[in-house]
Parts: sequence; structure tokens; C-alpha cells
Amino acid sequence: MAEKVAIASDHAGYGLKTALIPVLERLGFEVLDLGTTGIESVDYPDFANALAAAFRAGNARRGVLICGTGIGISIAANRHPELRAALCHDGLTAELARRHNDANVLCLGARVIGPETARDCVETFFTTEFEGGRHAARVAKLSQPVCK
Ligand code: RB5
Repeated sequence: MAEKVAIASDHAGYGLKTALIPVLERLGFEVLDLGTTGIESVDYPDFANALAAAFRAGNARRGVLICGTGIGISIAANRHPELRAALCHDGLTAELARRHNDANVLCLGARVIGPETARDCVETFFTTEFEGGRHAARVAKLSQPVCK
């Protein structure tokens, strides 16, 4: 059975989300599209929260989030302890987000990068393994309670 990958965006990311769904399908994933469904203005935290809910329900364990800059939706995503969301701008940042950070959510800024770069990010992110080793302890610390 194909792995499910969740994808969600706000209105600014809607067009790029639509363009990236076939890219994910070509990689062999079943895509769980959590909205938004058009260009009417919506609030990006709602879509990060929907993706986190899908993770918690066991419906996906990797995903893509898109807003205008990628900044707001990545901030919202990283409020959820089960998400390690990485805002990526090119193939290199997408590769390192996987190799070093074991990121499970790729965040993209639709108003910042073009569709070809976004496709490169998706293809790289979803085909690159976590390196482990010295990075494993660092990633584990991300799940520890934050110091006061
Ligand atoms: C929406 O206009 C825009 O603010 C949003 O998509 C995002 O860029 C926020 O970080």
C-alpha cells in the first residue's frame, strides 16, 4: 500500500499545492489533501493544525505545508511536538533538512520560490534519508522539554 503524504496550504500556497500533488503522486505516494480548496483568504495556522491532527490520527507521518513565505506555516507547524517542519528554499536545504534534522514536514513559500525549485525541494526531501549518527542526539533533544 502506498504511503500517505499530507499536504496543506493557505490561499497564497494554493496554486503551488495544486502543482505539487502530481509530483508527490509520481514519487509513489497517496496524497492526503487537507486544503485549502481555493484562493479565498484563509489563516495558515488552521492548515498547520490540520496536518498535525492528521499525524496524530496516524493518517500520515510526512507532509508538505505551503503559505506565501513559508514562514507563518512553519512557525505554526513547529508548535506541535510531533512535527519537525523545515522551511526550505532549494534542493540543498531540502536535502540537509532530511539528512541532519530528520524533518518530517517540508515547508515552502509560494511567493518566494518558483515551481521548478519547489518541485526539486519535494523530490529531494522525499527521497533523502536521515543520516543519524551525531545528528540523532541533537534531533532527540528537540523532543525534550524546553529550558526555562
Ligand atoms: C498571506 O497573505 C501570507 O501572510 C501568508 O501566506 C504567509 O506568507 C505568512 O507567513
